[in-house]
Amino acid sequence: MKFYYIYTYGCQMNESDSERLAKQLEDSGYKATDDVNQADLIILNTCCVRETAENKIYGRIGELKHLKEKNKNLIIAITGCMAQKNQADMFKRAPHIDIVLGTHNIQHINEMIAEVQRTHKHQMNIAMDNSVLPELEAKPGGSFFAWVPINNGCNKFCTYCIVPHVRGREISRPISAIVEDVRRLGTQGYKEITLLGQNVNSYGLDFKNGTDFGTLVDALEGIPGIERIRYMTSHPQDMTKSMIDALARSSVVVPQLHLPVQSGSNRILKKMNRHYTVEHYLDLLSYARQHIPDLTVTTDIIVGFPGETDEDFKGTLDLLHKADYDMAYTFIYSKRSGTPAATMDEQVPDEIKKVRLQQLMDVQNEISLRKNKAMEGKTYSLIVEGPSRTDEHMWFGRTPGNKMVLFPQDEELHIGDTIKARIVKGQTWVLYGTPIK
Ligand code: 5AD
Ligand code: SF4
Repeated sequence: MKFYYIYTYGCQMNESDSERLAKQLEDSGYKATDDVNQADLIILNTCCVRETAENKIYGRIGELKHLKEKNKNLIIAITGCMAQKNQADMFKRAPHIDIVLGTHNIQHINEMIAEVQRTHKHQMNIAMDNSVLPELEAKPGGSFFAWVPINNGCNKFCTYCIVPHVRGREISRPISAIVEDVRRLGTQGYKEITLLGQNVNSYGLDFKNGTDFGTLVDALEGIPGIERIRYMTSHPQDMTKSMIDALARSSVVVPQLHLPVQSGSNRILKKMNRHYTVEHYLDLLSYARQHIPDLTVTTDIIVGFPGETDEDFKGTLDLLHKADYDMAYTFIYSKRSGTPAATMDEQVPDEIKKVRLQQLMDVQNEISLRKNKAMEGKTYSLIVEGPSRTDEHMWFGRTPGNKMVLFPQDEELHIGDTIKARIVKGQTWVLYGTPIK
């Protein structure tokens, strides 16, 4: 019996790729383990969106060296965005790595393992073919929810972002392949799916036949077994009102929108190459809220982009109030070499970035708390996910809008059950509820 251990860093696209790697390994006879010491194959599926992620991963790679000394047959593979970015440098920095596999090559994992076993030499495949997206089945980690990639890559080239450099140009999967995937998942008992893309709103534009994200949403209506469809990530330049109409008329798409704004200053948005204004963004948001009742809205924000002044930052704080987000993922700008922003003048000092991040979080936390308190007394449907990680007597589930609700453990409830719960307490990050029988 051979065991594999996969650790995933970064975004949901990586989670989804890990599940696709897992399926291929299982097909060739490997079994999963959570214990890295037991593994015959270790895969770190990596991220390089910020420098902190890369440093953390290099640290982890270093820690794996002693396992290799104990077990000469152990194979260590680095996959994902950092593998694509650093390529053969990974071997120079950590010679105990066996395989470097790029973002476009996960379908070759088994061949690469066989080559290492045959040659006992470093193996690397980082070729980027932007003309096809391999159709790969996944082994979903959860029992009722599954990721469904719809497009991969990004054509946007925001000036701070490494993703287009490591994930390549955008390619969409055909609607028929996506529908077939979702149908199969529905039959297998998966009731919640998340459509994934770096920019879901540009889905299908590469077909140049009028297909867009709205067409896909319409095609996913009424698939047996599927109760909830989520989607991420949206882009304010490409999301249209007609796509919002499609989301609103769907009976399965949930009222949740993750719409990264990045900055509340038009001057900075321009320098970021985002191609929209704060005014356009707020107009889109208000249209979405008018047409999709009870919409949960989240965003991504970067502080300390080169040239960001106090005035620009104030614009971002103002926007937080105007957009009234349920939650914001906030990041300190991180220089990524090879991107235009890395060599821009007026890099913001670390001290200022840290102060701005804290201010931003303080303002957002107040808004999140107020919004969660407003949910008290209301009833929501939840899909039961299982025991809470912080309190063993509590279980949790998520509302359609993706808010986490904790409730007392109950023998009669099972993972994957859809239940109703009344919210009794709203806190900044989490809500408490009582299941209604
Ligand atoms: N520095 C900080 N944050 C970044 N992001 C992308 N690139 C960088 C960077 N260089 C953030 C953006 C994006 C999220 C996934 O990561 O906010 O939406
Ligand atoms: Fe990066 Fe911008 Fe593409 Fe998002 S849209 S992946 S932030 S380049």
